[in-house]
Amino acid sequence: MRNKVTKAIFPVAGLGTRFLPATKSVPKEIMTLVDRPLIQYAIDEARAAGIKEFIFVTSRGKGALEDYFDHAPTLEQELRKKGKNDLLEVLKNTNMESGAIAYIRQHKALGLGHAVWCARRLIGDEPFAVILPDDVIAAEKPCLQQMVEAYEETGGNMVAAMEVPPEKASSYGMLDIAEDMGNMVDVKGMVEKPETSKSPSNLAVIGRYILSPHVLKNLNKIKSGSGGEIQLTDAIAAEIEQNRKVYGYRFSGQRFDCGSKSGFLQATVSFGLAREDLRDDLSAYLRDIMSVDAAAQ
Ligand code: UTP
Repeated sequence: MRNKVTKAIFPVAGLGTRFLPATKSVPKEIMTLVDRPLIQYAIDEARAAGIKEFIFVTSRGKGALEDYFDHAPTLEQELRKKGKNDLLEVLKNTNMESGAIAYIRQHKALGLGHAVWCARRLIGDEPFAVILPDDVIAAEKPCLQQMVEAYEETGGNMVAAMEVPPEKASSYGMLDIAEDMGNMVDVKGMVEKPETSKSPSNLAVIGRYILSPHVLKNLNKIKSGSGGEIQLTDAIAAEIEQNRKVYGYRFSGQRFDCGSKSGFLQATVSFGLAREDLRDDLSAYLRDIMSVDAAAQ
């Protein structure tokens, strides 16, 4: 029987330079989408997919992230005293069970591949998920859950895939497709951030992965690639060379690139509009500013 995917790595050791000066003291993953930090969306998605062990690869200055998942006894006591049970419930959902969460340090931001490799001893010899919290995916069925269900049929390695316009290929890992099976593609190669004319397809890898432990062994041997960083893409591509399967999974849902300012703003508006308590005010405001903008043109 195939091993269940119960461990997930959350690489959160990046410098977050696109959000300076905010990220000088606030980790990007703690930045707030409506009223929850980005990392909470990633944790909820992992839980829905059956993940039981949460491994954070962190770095210097990310202490706020560790505190976020800790219990807050004084705050809880205060809320209890004031009878604010709804807020107590909100807080309770952010608490993590003792022992379910582990933190590993990446001492230098040497790239996503290196961050994943840092967690190798906690993964051991089982398949594992990787979630990049700055890719936020709004979906009826959470993206990782869709992938875990597909993975139970296929095994191998699986990456979330999304069509992007040709001029955007140079921002992503791009898939070279052997066979297109609809919501799944059989991958025969992967290229990290190719020039537009050199991209093998328009299918880009998005920040959700289910990987075999062999990928960690490949990472042992990988030297720095595109941008001088140790690329996870190269270690997954090495699986294909060793005759192991890699699939791209076309998830259903809308992905927001919350690692970029524009993507973060779009996600804020979209998640705000999806909230019953905010929808009316926010849409009235958006209609207002759009009509002022249209009149000005
Ligand atoms: P990004 O490419 O978005 O880099 O990393 P970044 O440092 O977070 O942000 P910018 O580009 O400087 O604004 C994608 C994911 O990989 C993690 C990041 O934390 C993010 O979740 N990462 C990246 C690491 O954990 N370690 C690294 O060395 C690089």
